[in-house]
Amino acid sequence: MGPTDAPTTHDAEEDARNETLLIYVNGDLVPKDQAKVSVYDSGFMLGDGMWEGLRLYNGRWAFFDDHMDRLFGALKAVSLDIGMGPEDMRQILDRTAQANGMTHDAHCRLMVTRGPKAKPFQHPALSRSGPTIVAIAEHSKPADHLRTTGIRLATVPQVRGLPMSQDPKFNSHSKLNCVIACLQAEQAGADEALMLDPHGFVNTTNACNIFFVRRGEVWTSTGDYCMNGVTRQKVIDLCRADGIPVFERNFSLYDAYGADEAFLTGTFGAQTPVAQIDGKPIGTGERPMTERIRALYKDLVRRDTGG
Ligand SMILES: Cc1ncc(COP(=O)(O)O)c(C=O)c1O
Repeated sequence: MGPTDAPTTHDAEEDARNETLLIYVNGDLVPKDQAKVSVYDSGFMLGDGMWEGLRLYNGRWAFFDDHMDRLFGALKAVSLDIGMGPEDMRQILDRTAQANGMTHDAHCRLMVTRGPKAKPFQHPALSRSGPTIVAIAEHSKPADHLRTTGIRLATVPQVRGLPMSQDPKFNSHSKLNCVIACLQAEQAGADEALMLDPHGFVNTTNACNIFFVRRGEVWTSTGDYCMNGVTRQKVIDLCRADGIPVFERNFSLYDAYGADEAFLTGTFGAQTPVAQIDGKPIGTGERPMTERIRALYKDLVRRDTGG
């Protein structure tokens, strides 16, 4: 579990090798305790950067093209031309994995910011010396309790908002919206926040997408106000291919509380069951649909990574 012993959706098994990692920082592989970026960096100063979380299985980065589509789409949308493409990113990821002797069960946070600023002010033009690129890869196996016990959610006041404020599809370094939601959930005695959309419909959590199983159907939000999760899309596609009725639709907490099963999706945990929402248990604790989708997803990862 996490350092406070409260479960989080990103709990991994302890691995001593993570104490001595080499971190990729702008072309160099640097020991973890010496890996640093400038205090003038746009990412540090403003949250002006984008990131991706990717997992390595069988020596391959799962769903690499989907992650690169999202990353380069976001970079284009914020006019951040890094002068590199997806294959350069693959080289960075592979170099980092190789330097750390990783071939399987590793998780990488790949971060790209607008780089150091000439002055400590906001204007993007003050970032003149090129982007900052960092890759932190850790040996990583999701902790067993995530799959068995499940996660407790609390509905919070913080929403993921309208696209014209800060589009929820930006996987940006500025995660304050989600951090506030997570704090609200923690203060309500839960592990993670269930966030509504601006109209009050069930939307997403602060770090994952969410699905519900109701009477043999799989429901998730419309997708308009949440991260366009790679895992979310894979689950929708797998349901369609396997004949499971799946709907992207508006629904309220009323339907969520009465679901038979609920699970979160994200690159780290794949599908993580939800045990309760706002203190109400979800279903009976039997999770046949979640298990079926988990098996389909595991097989897809295996096929995608040539395992
Ligand atoms: C807010 C939020 N929702 C959902 C996700 C899950 O996305 P993915 O399935 O691409 O990992 C993430 C992951 O970065 C996230 O930050």
